[in-house]
Parts: sequence; C-alpha cells; structure tokens
Amino acid sequence: MTISTFQDTVNAFVLSKKQVQKIIDGLTEELVEGLSTKDLKNITQQPSFITHLPTGKETGLYLAIDMGGTNLRTAAVHLLGDGQVGVTMEKHEITQELKTGTGEAMFDWIADCTATLLKNVAVDMGDSQLHMGVTFSFALHQTAVNRGKVLAMGKGFDLSNVMGKDLKDLMEDGFKRKNVPVVVSAIINDTVGTLVSHAYVSPSTKIGVILATGTNAAYIERACEVSKYEGPSCDQMILNTEWDAMGKAAYLPQTQYDKDIDAFSLVPKFQEFEKMVSGLYLGELFRRALVDLIERRALFEFLDGQVPELLTVEKSFKTLFMSTIESDNSSEHAAVARVFKTSFAIEGLSTKDCSKVYELVHAIGQRSAVMVAAACTALLYKANGSSVHLDDPSEITTIGIDGSVFEKYPHFSRSMMNALTQILGADRASRVRLELARDGGCIGAALVAMVSQRGGAV
Ligand code: GLC
Repeated sequence: MTISTFQDTVNAFVLSKKQVQKIIDGLTEELVEGLSTKDLKNITQQPSFITHLPTGKETGLYLAIDMGGTNLRTAAVHLLGDGQVGVTMEKHEITQELKTGTGEAMFDWIADCTATLLKNVAVDMGDSQLHMGVTFSFALHQTAVNRGKVLAMGKGFDLSNVMGKDLKDLMEDGFKRKNVPVVVSAIINDTVGTLVSHAYVSPSTKIGVILATGTNAAYIERACEVSKYEGPSCDQMILNTEWDAMGKAAYLPQTQYDKDIDAFSLVPKFQEFEKMVSGLYLGELFRRALVDLIERRALFEFLDGQVPELLTVEKSFKTLFMSTIESDNSSEHAAVARVFKTSFAIEGLSTKDCSKVYELVHAIGQRSAVMVAAACTALLYKANGSSVHLDDPSEITTIGIDGSVFEKYPHFSRSMMNALTQILGADRASRVRLELARDGGCIGAALVAMVSQRGGAV
C-alpha cells in the first residue's frame, strides 16, 4: 500500500476484524508447531520443567535475580505462606556497555550486585550456600529446572561467549570468581515467573504475560501435547511460548515503519511480533512515522519538510513520551507541545498538529493492545478445555500481566479488554480477568527455587 496522506498513515495502524483474525490463526498455528519442533532455531514453546502452580502455602527465605532487558533486580524473598511475601529488592540499570560486552563481564557484574544485596540485607545462613532462583528474560532451551542453554538475545543485547552455553554454569562461574556463596537452584523465563508468582496470590491465574521492553507469555499445556519435551513424565507443563518470535508466516500487519525497524535492528527477521508491540519499539515506530510525515509535509508543515536533527536519532522518541501524550486527552493536547519543546527543541506546533500527533500516537498504542489481546486469545483457545474453561460460567481465567507498557501506558488494560470482548464475545470475555502482576520475576524465581531445592517440581 502506498501511504500518501496523514490519515492513510494513521489508518495503516488500525486493524480490521479480518487482520485480527489472521493474527489469531497464525499465532495458533505457530503455538501448535512449536510443541513438536526440535529445531533449536525455532525458539518457541519452551518447556519450563515446572509442572504445577504453587499452592500459596510455601514458606522460606530465598534469593532471586531478575535479568530483564533494561534492569537487573536482585532480591531476598521471604515466602510467608497464605499468599503473602516480603521482598527486599535492589534495582541496577544494565548499561549499554555491559549489554554489548563479554559474558564474563556481565556475570561478574551480576555477582557483584548479588554481593551488595547480601551485604545490605545481612542474610546469614552460617556456612551453608544460598539458593537462588534466576529469572532470565531471554530465550533458553531448558534441560532441567535449573539448567538451560541460551538460545537468543534480542532487546539490544550482543554478549560474546554466551550463546549456546548453560546459564547455571555462566552464573555460578561468576559467583565463584567473586567468592559469592550462591548456587542456582532454578532458572525460569520472566513470563513463567509472572505466571507462578501471580498464581501464588491469585489462584485463578492460568497465563502469565510480559509487556515491557519486550513481550512474551507462558501458559499451562497438557504434557501429552508437548511432543518435543524430553524429561521426567508429568501430566502438565508450564510452557514459555516466546510469542515475541512468532509471526514468520507474514500474517503480521506490518507497515513500512515496522519493516524498517526490523531491518535496522541488531537481529533482523527475529522477534517481529515483539517489534510491533513492546516498549522498546513503540516510540521508535512513532518516530519513523513522524519523520516520514514531516518529510512529506503531511505534518508539522511549518518545518517545510526539514526534520530537526534530534528527531533523526534512532530511538530518541521514548515510549514514555507516548504515554505522556496519551494521558492528556483534552482538546488542546498541550502535552504534545510540551514533549516536543522539552525533548526535541521544536516549537510552534498548532492545535491541529497536536491533535494529529495525539491521533497517531493513539493508533500505534491501540494496535499494540489489540495485537496482545489477539495473542492472548490464541493462548486462551489453545488451553481451552484443559487449564482454561472459557465456556464454564463458574470458571474465571486470570491473566497476570507484568511490565511497564501494561502498567504505565494509559488505558492499556481497558483497550485490551475491549479487544478481548470484541473477539471472544461478551460472555466468554466476562470470564477473563487481566490483572497487574508486579515483580513476578523475583517472587516466581524464589518460589521455583524453593520447591526445586526441596526436591520437587512446583
Ligand atoms: C523477549 C525474550 C523473552 C522474554 C520477553 C519479555 O522477547 O525473548 O524470553 O520473556 O522478552 O521480557
């Protein structure tokens, strides 16, 4: 499609019913295919080796770390039973230098951060080693609850000496180099952590979703369906879908801007679904559309087709700016003028410019909510009849969702729920709850570490 007017650009982000159905069908096909494929180039549907959700009664003190796309969190997690937890958490930003350096430097730094936590919380376990659960927000091929080979790292990471290696070894080597007395008892994906930890406090939770720098989900599948699983026999298994990496069959409604983001990314043709919906990319998507509109004199005409330098810088338009813009829906949209003045030194926007920017931002944010709702639908359908019961009026299915986009982007939850109601129909949608699941990574990792250290699977 050739995009010519401002309205055409906005419309390119508005999905028709047919496009949404294509996404659901395409994702469903990939969910099924991922259950059997043993080709490690296909990173989807990874067994977590976790076969049950917690009961809420678990107790004990465990260490946890959550390595995300932006921050590292270290935590001492006190499981108090009755779904109660006490958490002492420290947050460290992962610098660009660390993200693109050596694995050794990264794992030394993680060991240092852990040592700082231990010092600050004054955990004293005598001579015994401390057990740690690790949440890792990247694709792993797990071979046990505490072992997994690193398959791929998107989100701007390019670590040397890490791909294909076992995460437990990488981490424990770092702890040894730094004399930190910690063993890794569990490794989980952040979506699995979200599912497990939210089920601890809200037992109807059957799906865990992350909507942050990246996006992904975990759900509970019948073990007999997971033909690629090679491990102790079980009835069910939590799967890390890695839906971020789905979308290969060209059913994703990519605009030229989506295609460009992918083409110019560190790893093109990887995580194309994620690149359309998650926090690392939404702002950049808007920036690319805006630059194009300015050049075509379809927006900010006072610039006469000249794009101000700051706007030409990749990722200079943060997703946070979109949140700021969307949170002001007054008719003047004064937040738009403020963002451009403060962060890009652009002044002179008319009220019409401001409302057009608002409209474009809204369309991009809305598309993300609709696509994530479509992906949740694919999972709900896949699990319907086993862990999910959409047609039973007495059953509620809770989807625990963690991440800055879900938590901070204005009205995201409402937009997702509206989309789910349109797709599923009011009756079925009324049995689905979307709940914010905060800090799931650390709590989930601690829960799984506890159970696995005691010799069981959660
Ligand atoms: C990326 C990772 C995935 C993670 C998601 C959310 O897509 O591949 O493992 O769960 O980001 O953090």
